[in-house]
Amino acid sequence: MSQGTRLQGKVAIVTGGGSGFGAAIARRFAEEGAKVIVTDINVEGGEQVAALNPSNLTFQHMDVTQEGDWKAVLKLAFSKFGRLDALVNNAGTTYRNKPTAEVTDAEWERVFNVNVKSIYLATKTVMPRFIEQGSGGSVINISSTGASRPRPGLVWYNASKGAVSNATKGLAAEYGPHNIRVNSVAPLLSGTGLFSMFTGMEDSPENREKFIGNVPLGRLTEADDIANMCLYLASDEGRFINGTEMVVDGGKCV
Ligand SMILES: NC(=O)c1ccc[n+]([C@@H]2O[C@H](COP(=O)([O-])OP(=O)(O)OC[C@H]3O[C@@H](n4cnc5c(N)ncnc54)[C@H](O)[C@@H]3O)[C@@H](O)[C@H]2O)c1
Repeated sequence: MSQGTRLQGKVAIVTGGGSGFGAAIARRFAEEGAKVIVTDINVEGGEQVAALNPSNLTFQHMDVTQEGDWKAVLKLAFSKFGRLDALVNNAGTTYRNKPTAEVTDAEWERVFNVNVKSIYLATKTVMPRFIEQGSGGSVINISSTGASRPRPGLVWYNASKGAVSNATKGLAAEYGPHNIRVNSVAPLLSGTGLFSMFTGMEDSPENREKFIGNVPLGRLTEADDIANMCLYLASDEGRFINGTEMVVDGGKCV
């Protein structure tokens, strides 16, 4: 991917940036000139991502379910870079696809804490600073095609993403007058290590083929598909996009 200037002068926080989509989003933002704080509970992964572009990527350990960690990362953004322009709420988790009556309390709570409480805490912490800063901002919440197209075996994961997509629209309506745009991105299943967690099936060529057969563009999501959509939403090119769910699924959900 070529270097560019689409995010020159901007500062971004990407949660869950130590692997998968978050790593690609952080790397892509940095390639386009942004200063990016990569956060994750996975220190090794986060540091590896930051090492790809040390002048633009900074790793900060952060658990998105902890309000103190939100305050600390925001403090870092302002002390190190003096501003914040974009926040990507990407950190997310699931339990392994299984009969819904077998989901445990601990699994349910982890999914809702990491996927939904994180955005509640982000809102409490970051929105007042965006307003105070006075130059607007872009919040991008990583949802899922399962938010609007739930499937068997992942009911509470999909419900948590339904909350993400719904809250995105409410926040967009509420904070739009401050020029704070809030959008969600809904990826289709990707070929990362989460394949068997999401599908409940072994990650084999035959099982992948079952999914790909229903996708008009004939493949699963790649991390750069998500990174490029987030880049557009974080950049000034997306300046009139607010409260939208950007479905990145090769046409699967038509
Ligand atoms: N992979 C897919 O097929 C797929 C499809 C649709 C949506 N999504 C969503 O995309 C996002 C990224 O998923 P991914 O596929 O890159 O998965 P991933 O597991 O590779 O990345 C998620 C990252 O979040 C981090 N994380 C988990 N809990 C955290 C916490 N409490 N605090 C901070 N960081 C935490 C993990 O350490 C990990 O680095 C998630 O929100 C996921 O629900 C993924």
